[in-house]
Amino acid sequence: MSADVFSKVKEILNNIQNEKVGNLNDLESFRIKYLGSKNEIKSLFGEIKNVENDRKKEFGQLLNDVKQSAEEKYELLKASLGSALTDNENTGIDMTAPCEPISFGSRHPVSIVMNRIIGIFERIGFTVAEEREIEDDWHNFTAMNTPEDHPARDMQDTFYLKDSTVELLRTHTSSVQARIMTTQKPPIRIIAPGRVYRNETISSRSHCQFHQVEGLYIDKGVSFADMKQTLLYFAREMYGPKTDIRLRPSFFPFTEPSAEMDVYWGLKTEDDHRITKGTGWLEILGCGMVDPNVLTNCGIDPTVYSGFAFGMGIERQAMLQFKITDIRQLFENDARFLKQFSGVI
Ligand code: DAH
Repeated sequence: MSADVFSKVKEILNNIQNEKVGNLNDLESFRIKYLGSKNEIKSLFGEIKNVENDRKKEFGQLLNDVKQSAEEKYELLKASLGSALTDNENTGIDMTAPCEPISFGSRHPVSIVMNRIIGIFERIGFTVAEEREIEDDWHNFTAMNTPEDHPARDMQDTFYLKDSTVELLRTHTSSVQARIMTTQKPPIRIIAPGRVYRNETISSRSHCQFHQVEGLYIDKGVSFADMKQTLLYFAREMYGPKTDIRLRPSFFPFTEPSAEMDVYWGLKTEDDHRITKGTGWLEILGCGMVDPNVLTNCGIDPTVYSGFAFGMGIERQAMLQFKITDIRQLFENDARFLKQFSGVI
């Protein structure tokens, strides 16, 4: 009888040593089996009464050894499995599995070009002014010296809101000039990026919504030469340090004199010929000295202050830069198109 319980204890000791514990679930089963409230060793303590007196001590000792070895093994395993919680079997997460592909967004080509332009002017002290897209007739036209009968006011060009001829979607960012000049005192040095709207037929070359960046610099003694130098700096930052520019006389109601600035693009490829209509020159922006009437309209004394302004479209520059041939692609938000710009900032 006593030999039986002895061999039973030895068997349990063996089992404890051979027990395979590979994860936290196994460890919990191990604990319940050998250290839990109804564990296998406990039941053997009750067998002491059946052991011969002269072997009772030996038996008790053996049971204690078994219990201790179960405890030791448990502590050891707990420590090692606990520190390896990242192991796939412990957490249910397979750390070796390839991760779900993370799909990063990309900057829109219009934003890329707009941010680049903003950066160039910020470096020489211009600050960004953002204003409303829903404008009134005064800021968009009247203040900007655009007469009542100017064709730009025509319903054909301007989106008027709620059947009113007062509320409209701004047709250019020049409206921001009026917003700023009526609320800030010179010196003023701002660039105003934003979306503008014109009631035009949508085609591969024109859209009813597009983006512009406006610039305005008002101070005492600002000259045409200041404007030319500022724009030359811009052209060279944007299109390369050797870029040439030319200013062609032009007309805008809000500037006098007015000009359009071209950059020399070159005539190396067939594309260059097509894009520049065989001239090598590309028109980039409109500019001029702020018309004294505009200053007066906005409460700035033209006998004290002068300034220059410029405005440029973004889409065409983005199309040139990224060789996009249809402006509509810029407004469709087709992920396959936009993905091509990932990583470009
Ligand atoms: N607002 C003009 C347009 O939409 C662009 C422009 C031309 C802005 C000359 C200016 C400027 O500030 O001086 O076509």
